Amino acid sequence: MTLWGGAFSQPIDDAVRRLNDSLRFDWKLYDVDISGSIAWARAITGAGVITQAECDTLIGGLEQVRAEFAAGQFVPAPGDEDIHTAVERRLTEIVGEVAGKLHTGRSRNDQVALDVLLWLHQAGQHIARQVAGFMTAVLDQAERSQNAIMPGYTHFQPAQPISAAHWWLNHFWALARDVERLESFVESWRNQCPLGSGALAGTPYAIDRQQLAEQLGFYHPSPNSVDAVANRDHVAEFLFTLALLGTHLSRLSEDLIIFVNPLFGFFRLDERYSTGSSLMPQKRNPDPLELARGKAGRLIGQLTGMLATLKSLPSGYNKDLQEDKEPMFDAYDTLLVLLPTLTGLVNTLTIQPDRMRAGLVESMLSTDLADYLVTKGVPFRQAHGLAGRVVRLAETKGVTLSALTLEDYRSISDVFEADVQSVFDFEAAVARRQVIGGTGDVEGQMGRGRGWLAARS
Ligand code: ARG
Repeated sequence: MTLWGGAFSQPIDDAVRRLNDSLRFDWKLYDVDISGSIAWARAITGAGVITQAECDTLIGGLEQVRAEFAAGQFVPAPGDEDIHTAVERRLTEIVGEVAGKLHTGRSRNDQVALDVLLWLHQAGQHIARQVAGFMTAVLDQAERSQNAIMPGYTHFQPAQPISAAHWWLNHFWALARDVERLESFVESWRNQCPLGSGALAGTPYAIDRQQLAEQLGFYHPSPNSVDAVANRDHVAEFLFTLALLGTHLSRLSEDLIIFVNPLFGFFRLDERYSTGSSLMPQKRNPDPLELARGKAGRLIGQLTGMLATLKSLPSGYNKDLQEDKEPMFDAYDTLLVLLPTLTGLVNTLTIQPDRMRAGLVESMLSTDLADYLVTKGVPFRQAHGLAGRVVRLAETKGVTLSALTLEDYRSISDVFEADVQSVFDFEAAVARRQVIGGTGDVEGQMGRGRGWLAARS
């Protein structure tokens, strides 16, 4: 039996049923669906559609259905098309005929639109907390590596020395933006409670939509009922935010895959976070990091798929919209596995400061050499050219910059003096860049990072 079979003389085809049914995945909405139904029962009571006693009976029954789901005791029945029909069918078994009054003035269209919003609201907050947990691990590593200096790269070529903490913090602040994005979406969704939109035209019963919205944690009802039942912007925004978060995790993972490679050896993976090879006994493979990189592709795919689903829909609800759920559940589940894994991996990573040190080459101080000339009054453009000639000379002679003699230097410019040797100090090069956000400012950054996290705990 379906909830809509009155005008039909035949049941739907079995293959259609399999295509149409969504309970196997949308059961995850049971909790928010029931909260929405309870609020709706109160709203239609307020409008005089049902009595207070009927409302109480419905709420009691709905709470029982919720408890059955929560305990894993809910038994689906044939004809349970989706979570909405399944809850109503079970409610009818529990409270009898009065269950048939609950759906007065409501449609599954405004019901599911509400469910998705409420679910996303909780999911967004939960992911944000998981990201903050991961960021704590990143910040802890930054603190432990404050005194280590590593090569910083642009174009993935050795560029300038930076504090290892600075490299960690570069990932910390990207993740902070992801959390802030989640926070702002969670807030903006509150302005459009779709319940009361009916199938598309709005409900004819005199419910107080403002009060209903507030009861469900929203600030305002949605402004247009046709838009409200088809609006899945928040699903796309959620998927975008998670895809970008996945992209940031992928970039961090890519850095680490390179840095744990024995050629670099900047970090060592804990055995619990790496795997061996079935053939090559020496291997220590960074599988979790590779999977993080791989999952980013999947997350981007979920976003792209959702946008493709939305792009050509005519106004109002269309069944295509049922395709919003699997991507959002999958993206969420993917990150809920990934984030704790990466948190553990980062927490157990061993830093190898000597290997970082071994990656530093004096030519990474060429900019500092130009800056040295600048302090002696040489315009930067000219200083850059002179420093370049010093690099060339060292290369030709097959020596490092500090091994060139003062005569060598003075053959290029007589502005060079014996104190040029003071340039070849990686620590000093890092410390000099004290500007806010610079590698010499890691102490300040860590303080700001701790404050950022504390404001959210
Ligand atoms: N399971 C449906 C969905 O997820 C619920 C809405 C169904 N509405 C309808 N008019 N058939 O979108």
